[in-house]
Amino acid sequence: MKALVYHGPGSRAWEEVPDANIHEPTDAVVHVDTATICGTDLHILGGDIPEVAPGRILGHEAVGTVTEVGSSVQRLAIGDRVLVSCISSCGNCRFCRDSSYGQCLGGGGWILGHLIDGTQAEYVRVPFADNSTHHVPDGVTDEQMIVLADILPTAYEVGVLNGAVRPADVVAIIGAGPIGLAAIMTAQLFSPSHIVAIDLAESRLEAARKFGADMMVNSGRDDPAAVIGELTGGLGADVVMEAVGLPQTFEQAVRLVRPGGHVANIGVHGAPATLHLEDIWIKNLTITTGLVDTYSTPTLIGLVASHRLDTTPMVTHRFGFEEFEAAYDAFANAAETGALKVLMTAAR
Ligand SMILES: NC(=O)c1ccc[n+]([C@@H]2O[C@H](COP(=O)([O-])OP(=O)(O)OC[C@H]3O[C@@H](n4cnc5c(N)ncnc54)[C@H](O)[C@@H]3O)[C@@H](O)[C@H]2O)c1
Ligand SMILES: [Zn+2]
Ligand SMILES: [Zn+2]
Repeated sequence: MKALVYHGPGSRAWEEVPDANIHEPTDAVVHVDTATICGTDLHILGGDIPEVAPGRILGHEAVGTVTEVGSSVQRLAIGDRVLVSCISSCGNCRFCRDSSYGQCLGGGGWILGHLIDGTQAEYVRVPFADNSTHHVPDGVTDEQMIVLADILPTAYEVGVLNGAVRPADVVAIIGAGPIGLAAIMTAQLFSPSHIVAIDLAESRLEAARKFGADMMVNSGRDDPAAVIGELTGGLGADVVMEAVGLPQTFEQAVRLVRPGGHVANIGVHGAPATLHLEDIWIKNLTITTGLVDTYSTPTLIGLVASHRLDTTPMVTHRFGFEEFEAAYDAFANAAETGALKVLMTAAR
């Protein structure tokens, strides 16, 4: 089979590799019908995630068709259409028993395209297949489904639910990439009064408007504190989500929140940020962090299947598997290409 193989920082190739097959009785093999690229894959290629070994097949998001099941797999049959989640779950450890699958101690968690071979391939081995896949409901397309592998549960769980968005809240979201846009989309399930999107790229702010933000602030030009102050009588936002992953945007999130409000950090950080306790000890803030657990995926699938969430505008570019290199280039140069989610589809 062919796959997108990581060969060390800055180096990748679509090439021939050994076929994916069953190692454990709980495994399944899935033919990848649609795969996509995450910002995290770019972090890997940038050398930021050194535990990814050269030779690793990248990718942790897919929709596909089951082609083989291990002897103890009970919920899947050959031919089933499934979503392959970015998080795998052993189902038995103390964290999985508590729905905190991202923290799995039994060999799951974020492993695909990280610690084991991933989904940017013609076939993928999915460990703990019963717990780590979701059936695609009838009438739901691969394109609607694929964003539920990672970005929607991440934005919803780590941003909207950790941030405890409530009706009439003023919600500020720093960073309008796919994750920030998915946070804009899912925050609306809780009827906030305003969603303020903050970014440096006009193309991303334009996307934020389409996804439902009603105030767009280019923080390279305008001061988000002034905009939010005007909306809130000078108090600050009820909820601020950080969806960039830089020290300055985390520190900005803490400055933009009102006393008693929530700061939900979603961004992956590679450098320390300063927590100004000398200012905030008195403010009754709740600050949360998190790796996605994907416990909300069944809820999100239900919302997509019942047309309560429209995920289709998230997909902007489509390629065949043989064009993986071009797909990576389009995604890596999002400011010019306007790319949000870039899909690769197997030839049928
Ligand atoms: N916690 C989790 O489980 C989890 C899961 C997936 C991704 N992430 C992280 O979420 C973050 C967002 O992911 P994404 O795919 O949307 O990334 P992205 O790179 O596509 O988007 C980031 C956005 O931030 C904007 N930006 C950059 N610097 C800025 C600044 N100083 N002020 C305002 N905006 C700025 C960029 O223009 C861009 O639109 C990343 O850090 C990613 O690694 C976290
Ligand atoms: Zn991801
Ligand atoms: Zn576990």
